[in-house]
Amino acid sequence: MNKTLIYAHRGASKLAPENTMPAFELAAAAGAEGIETDVQLTKDNVPVLIHDENLRRTTNGKGFVQDYTYDQLRLLDAGSWFSSKFSNVGIISLDEFLQWFQKQAMVLNIELKTNVIEYKNIERIVYEALKRHQVLDRTVISSFNSNSIIRMHEINPAVRTAFLTSTKRRDLVEYAKSLGANDLHIKHRLLDKKLVKQCHRANMDLRIYTVNRPNMMKKCYKLKVDGIFTDVPYEALEYRGLH
Ligand code: G3P
Repeated sequence: MNKTLIYAHRGASKLAPENTMPAFELAAAAGAEGIETDVQLTKDNVPVLIHDENLRRTTNGKGFVQDYTYDQLRLLDAGSWFSSKFSNVGIISLDEFLQWFQKQAMVLNIELKTNVIEYKNIERIVYEALKRHQVLDRTVISSFNSNSIIRMHEINPAVRTAFLTSTKRRDLVEYAKSLGANDLHIKHRLLDKKLVKQCHRANMDLRIYTVNRPNMMKKCYKLKVDGIFTDVPYEALEYRGLH
């Protein structure tokens, strides 16, 4: 097991609006080893990077992502809610992001946001985009929705997947394995030594979200988890250097 990798959660989302190019660029500049981002589908089936199904929280739009075409969504302001400095920042497609990501020496976690809306064919659409940009070998695809993990495994069992959960259950490792998942992504409060051992014994990587506090960072490093998702990658890097 190598060092705990630091994934910028939705980019460096404490410094710039989440899931936008400035947040990703700042994560790379900070030295984060990975990026975590969320994918939803537009009305015309374009995968776009946005966490919520609804546009309200992070844009000046209204209603659901799935009710707009990509060309309509591109016109929205996805930065002002965070700071007026970012008023010219928009929603980007997965393809636009991958054009940039392809040139970075980083790893990637794509979360398929299928836990609220089960977008038809999202697994195939995302798979094809990753393949086109030749980044499949450094990407892990995660979802809270077991069906997405199963479907991704059916598309290509060589694609690395992670079951994502915030719910404690005794047979978590066995359950994730039964879906075909390679790895497990859990909420920080579920982390304990036993689970780390169980995962590693089962040859699974364990990554923890969302780790923003020094104490939790310390615990993750001490237990040698494989990765953390953090809004503050620069702080996580600094702490990792001290442990
Ligand atoms: O993928 C890790 C973490 O981002 C999952 O939670 O709510 O940010 O999608 P959420």
